[in-house]
Amino acid sequence: MDFRRHRRLRHSAPLRNLVREHTFDMNDFIYPVFVQEGLNGKEEISAMPGIYHFGLDEFRREIVELSELGLPGVILFGIPAEKDDQSSGAYAEHGIVQEAIRAAKQENPDFLVMTDVCLCQYNPAGHCGIVKEGQIVNDESLRYIAETALSHAQAGADVVAPSDMMDGRVLAIRKLLDEHNYQNVVILSYAVKYASAFYGPFREAAHSAPAFGDRRTYQMDFANIREALREARSDVDEGADMIMVKPALSYLDVTRTIRNTFDVPVATYNVSAEYSMVKAAAAQGWIDEQGIVKEIMTSFKRAGADFILTYHAKDLAKWLRGQKA
Ligand code: PBG
Repeated sequence: MDFRRHRRLRHSAPLRNLVREHTFDMNDFIYPVFVQEGLNGKEEISAMPGIYHFGLDEFRREIVELSELGLPGVILFGIPAEKDDQSSGAYAEHGIVQEAIRAAKQENPDFLVMTDVCLCQYNPAGHCGIVKEGQIVNDESLRYIAETALSHAQAGADVVAPSDMMDGRVLAIRKLLDEHNYQNVVILSYAVKYASAFYGPFREAAHSAPAFGDRRTYQMDFANIREALREARSDVDEGADMIMVKPALSYLDVTRTIRNTFDVPVATYNVSAEYSMVKAAAAQGWIDEQGIVKEIMTSFKRAGADFILTYHAKDLAKWLRGQKA
């Protein structure tokens, strides 16, 4: 027997295109956007070149631009003007995220609006749940988390994405949404969310670094994968329509395992430091940014992700249209 000629199918671009196993397009990307209460215009986030804090007016313009680029949607993060122990800015009728949802829907009703549902930006402790005597209390937090999701639904959000990692929050959110007739609002659960150093630039951007301790009593230990199955199973059982693995790049094995085990759509969140590392190296001229980013996105699809939350989404949309980012 002769040896096999694997190179035969790589011989020309049309052949390579024909046999390519994994591809991505614009519809795979959700763009994270930070909206800041009281801000005029926009301000670049220093550790995340190309990513901004948006005041509401600039945010409206951004929504128009993103829709014109053909991106399907955004996930919103809010930075409130004030924080309090009850995290009341998180579920305020006229909170920054609620107003941003309304603004986005006014600019383009067909543009998908997802929201991050969490308390950490809204309380001085900077934790994702309610703090009592130095503890992040689970069951009491659920009411606040569910109220936050409901307020987003009332403002017009299509998808709510709880990222707090309290146990039982998907059930609490689904019940409250249904009681208020928001049966069609989708829950994308951050089901598998690890305690990660890769969130560093985000915490600076969202002003949400914990004032004491860390997030390891509620976010997962990054050494674990069986635990990811337990987390995902609970969220699916509680009614999550879609589940997420976060971070993305060092967790491709987790995405693959979750994809193989569950039949709901699976997303992965290409988080802030994953973006910052690429941008920093690109700014030095050390890497081919476009090549690196496309390879990274393909790796998420290959690992089984149905869609990707990524700060690179806007650049990718431009590259896919043959424009310069
Ligand atoms: C809020 C939240 C965080 C991120 C998304 N939602 C920060 C955290 O949990 O500490 C991180 C996103 C990123 O790093 O891009 N809980």
